[in-house]
Amino acid sequence: MTTANLIATVDLDAIAHNVGVLRERSGAGVIAVVKADGYGHGALPVARTALTAGAQSLGTASIREARELRAGGLTGHITAWLHRPDADFAGAVADGIDIAVSSRRQLAAVLDAARAAGTRAIVSVKVDTGLGRSGVAREEWDDAAADIARAVADGAVELHGVMCHLAFGDEPDHPHNDLQAQRLDAAVADLTRLGAPPAVVHMSNSPAALTRPDLSRDLVRPGIAMYGYSPIPSMGDFGLIPAMTLESQVTMVKKADSGQGVSYNHTWHAPSDTVIGVIPAGYADGVPRMLSGKLQVHIGDRLFPNVGRICMDQLVVDLGPDGGGVREGDRAVLFGPASAAGGAPVPTATDWADALGTIDYEIVSRIGSRPERRYTGGPAAAQPECAAAGHTQGDAHG
Ligand SMILES: Cc1ncc(COP(=O)(O)O)c(C=O)c1O
Repeated sequence: MTTANLIATVDLDAIAHNVGVLRERSGAGVIAVVKADGYGHGALPVARTALTAGAQSLGTASIREARELRAGGLTGHITAWLHRPDADFAGAVADGIDIAVSSRRQLAAVLDAARAAGTRAIVSVKVDTGLGRSGVAREEWDDAAADIARAVADGAVELHGVMCHLAFGDEPDHPHNDLQAQRLDAAVADLTRLGAPPAVVHMSNSPAALTRPDLSRDLVRPGIAMYGYSPIPSMGDFGLIPAMTLESQVTMVKKADSGQGVSYNHTWHAPSDTVIGVIPAGYADGVPRMLSGKLQVHIGDRLFPNVGRICMDQLVVDLGPDGGGVREGDRAVLFGPASAAGGAPVPTATDWADALGTIDYEIVSRIGSRPERRYTGGPAAAQPECAAAGHTQGDAHG
């Protein structure tokens, strides 16, 4: 029983399995990337599961995300790597978050926060080795490295990691990957020469972790593969298992006469007498409106096409002239792993992404807060009710 219309069930055993695949293929420790609420899967349950499955630490984009993990009882190592200029470094320092800095200005702000708190900050340095995004700019590197070495010598910071992010991780043979690796290694050599060797070095995202173990260094930083999606679909699924199943129920079944318009602006008219089903899922739940007419819903063991516009809260499927044997209350699966239901293959988040010309990262991370999250499998401590009762385990270390 639920009061939510849409349920996103997350299979924590799949997350644990995927962490195992990543550890094995990369030959390195795993920083479980749980930014964007764990790519829509729920950051805390995913984090606890990943750590129990052997991940070494956690990674987020914002300090807020990192602090939410702390507040959720995770006491181990968390790295946060993207900050706006007025970011609250004081809170991050107080929480012992590893703050990855991308500029001398950010390092100075972290040092100010640590000085004010009378403590030592944990810092990583993110180097722009050729992604052309965040990370210390090449022209600033020599001065930034000197600043870091001075801060380490002064005891103001503990230098934890040196990291970069790949521009062509999903093109394993692209020469730019090797260029970025060379530049990262050079940055580590610079810091070591200056007396500030990092504890860990990492650059690989999911595709590199799965296909380029030679780039692994100490750790890898996978996100999407941990959630079960292949980061290079043309190379197969790498044995990954998608963790999320998005499902609802058919909330209404009714006749539509030939010519009857369906949903806003009647973009679809029944070509002949038919039966339609209403699914209580819409774009406010993360079902993109642009998928209107391009989406199929798995009901029973069959697929039924969406017709008419996807609305904020609901969408309509054509069940055919005989209603396809569908009844109100039948389970309706929007996407999930192949095993999510019998009969016709269940659509995947990747199918949605392909239909829209985007990537499955965008599909899953946009499943917002309205669908209820349910968790199956995984360690007991990862279940939200258990965690709320204070039973946490598997904290990050390293
Ligand atoms: C800095 C950084 N590291 C790791 C990741 C994880 O990437 P992926 O989901 O491709 O594994 C991301 C995601 O964008 C990122 O921004």
